[in-house]
Amino acid sequence: MTFQIHSLSPTAAEIAGLDCSRALPPETLEALRAALKEHPVICIRDQHLDAPGLGAFARRLGPLEKQDRSAFCHPDDSDILILSNDRRADGSQIGIVDAGDFWHSDSSHMSEPCRYTMLYAVQNPIKGGDTHYIDMRKVYEALPASLKNEIAGCEAVHHVSKTLNPRVTVSAERAGAADYYKSRETATKSVTQPMVRTHPESGEQALYISPRFTIAIAGMDDAEAQPLLDELFRFMFSNPAWQYTHKWRDNDLVIWDNACLNHMAGGGYEYPDVRRMHRATVAGDRPFYRAS
Ligand code: OGA
Ligand code: MN
Repeated sequence: MTFQIHSLSPTAAEIAGLDCSRALPPETLEALRAALKEHPVICIRDQHLDAPGLGAFARRLGPLEKQDRSAFCHPDDSDILILSNDRRADGSQIGIVDAGDFWHSDSSHMSEPCRYTMLYAVQNPIKGGDTHYIDMRKVYEALPASLKNEIAGCEAVHHVSKTLNPRVTVSAERAGAADYYKSRETATKSVTQPMVRTHPESGEQALYISPRFTIAIAGMDDAEAQPLLDELFRFMFSNPAWQYTHKWRDNDLVIWDNACLNHMAGGGYEYPDVRRMHRATVAGDRPFYRAS
């Protein structure tokens, strides 16, 4: 099976002519992996995938992470999470409403963060619902030498709790979110991650911090670390050419590589304008830095 690929930006590409509901020959999977190495955001258009079909396709890229938020797992495949602002007749949420509302790389607060995330657009809102990406390879490449030197060999502290992080706020849309993040402050440990992450396949370096999960620099006083993080985040947002915004069409399947991107849900829609995504995450290894 061959497919057509065309670049949407230096970071993103779209693929047409691929049917992910069918068994894919090894050379097609290899071609897809090669495309992801060059473009860490890949959109495959016009897919028709139920939850088990999405799960089966995602497992071809590697073992899937188990989901701990069982209330929002899909009943037909528990490895698929539902992200949605839709509600049942009794008012309860059918999915996660505030997923990805600040810039981040998925599960960097875990020692082995997920590698690829897949989102499948089941229903797009009439307004809003874009997903934004920043190519952290480009950010690192362009970083002034003085900043590169300052962070060389450093590890950053990542934590899941929003209430420990002054750079983010807790969404009012999600019932109990403030209590949940408060309980995580002590119930969940922080992890340290290299501030520069080497891509396991291409060897490219990427800045590996995010406003959502990075709360400190290991072994550095906050008086020094917080202004340095602020400066790095300012730099990260300083060039629109490093960003890609995905405007979803129904039946888009987007795969992204968390090793070299930050991303964020753009929001901008309101119930009863419904957004519904199905999500799978492919497990990853411990991030590392290797000099190039
Ligand atoms: C995610 C995420 C963004 C979005 O699923 O990890 O950040 O636009 N989603 O839904
Ligand atoms: Mn995310």
